[in-house]
Amino acid sequence: MSWGSLGPMQKILILGGTGKTGRRIARRLHDAGRPVRTASRTGGDIPFDLDDPATWAPALDGVAAAYIVEPNRRPGPIAEFVADAVAAGVRRLVLLSAFGIDDADDGHPLKAAERAVRNAGVDWTILQPTWFAQNFSESFWLPGIRAGALALPTGDGRTPFVDAEDIAEVATAALTEDSHVGQTYQLTGPRAISFGEATDLIGKAADRTIRHVDIDPEVFVERQVTNGVPPDVAQLLTGLLMAIRDGRAAALGDGVQRALGRPPRSFEDYVTETAWN
Ligand SMILES: NC(=O)c1ccc[n+]([C@@H]2O[C@H](COP(=O)([O-])OP(=O)(O)OC[C@H]3O[C@@H](n4cnc5c(N)ncnc54)[C@H](OP(=O)(O)O)[C@@H]3O)[C@@H](O)[C@H]2O)c1
Repeated sequence: MSWGSLGPMQKILILGGTGKTGRRIARRLHDAGRPVRTASRTGGDIPFDLDDPATWAPALDGVAAAYIVEPNRRPGPIAEFVADAVAAGVRRLVLLSAFGIDDADDGHPLKAAERAVRNAGVDWTILQPTWFAQNFSESFWLPGIRAGALALPTGDGRTPFVDAEDIAEVATAALTEDSHVGQTYQLTGPRAISFGEATDLIGKAADRTIRHVDIDPEVFVERQVTNGVPPDVAQLLTGLLMAIRDGRAAALGDGVQRALGRPPRSFEDYVTETAWN
């Protein structure tokens, strides 16, 4: 059952609105002339902190649909936020989750978020992307790319990096079109590649040597903690990278094709269209 189409002038809230997917969704909605409110702790249209419930009501005021990002990677108040959103009149929710989350412990924050969204009693769509290609150019892997050596405990393991542009296109469709209600989309690129191949492709585009360096998982955890990452989050991220190393993160998802009726963008296209220097 759908709770009815969203009118073209109804406001859409984008959590993580300055992040890798959120700002791409906001750009698409702006271009389509839809009213958008981006929310984040700094730099969005409205200050919003998932860990500060006092910031929720102003963000939700007058909103008909919301894109939900759970930024913390540890248990947080996402179910309470979803309940407040519905009470405030939001009737369509699109959640950014993660590929493979069905196999995670019940206590995983994204699993809790999926439960909250599915049981909210309003229209929902869940996006389950694998690792974003843009982690190389906008996020945690950029310092290694800049330094010419990206040290990750992934061995020769392969994974089908997904382009954040594809995630944003699917999210925009789910926020504005009725046909995605009740769908869970597994979003990946078209081909699993290793970090060695990924850094080779980026090195060719940047015209300099960039290598992937395989490191011991425990050393990787220690390095992250030294850089200020909380130990539990460092363990969680390392566990996810170990899944790549062990060959458990190579599966392809059909979500881009199902949602958009076209194949996902290739990693090669992402590399070619990104400024590396
Ligand atoms: N990156 C990947 O490869 C990947 C793959 C699969 C799933 N995911 C999932 O995607 C989600 C986004 O992760 P990401 O690392 O890619 O981040 P991102 O969306 O690029 O950036 C995080 C966004 O959330 C905002 N934010 C951070 N802490 C916040 C808080 N306490 N309250 C409100 N907003 C906050 C940030 O802005 P401010 O700092 O200004 O608040 C930023 O806009 C996570 O749930 C992650 O598990 C990521």
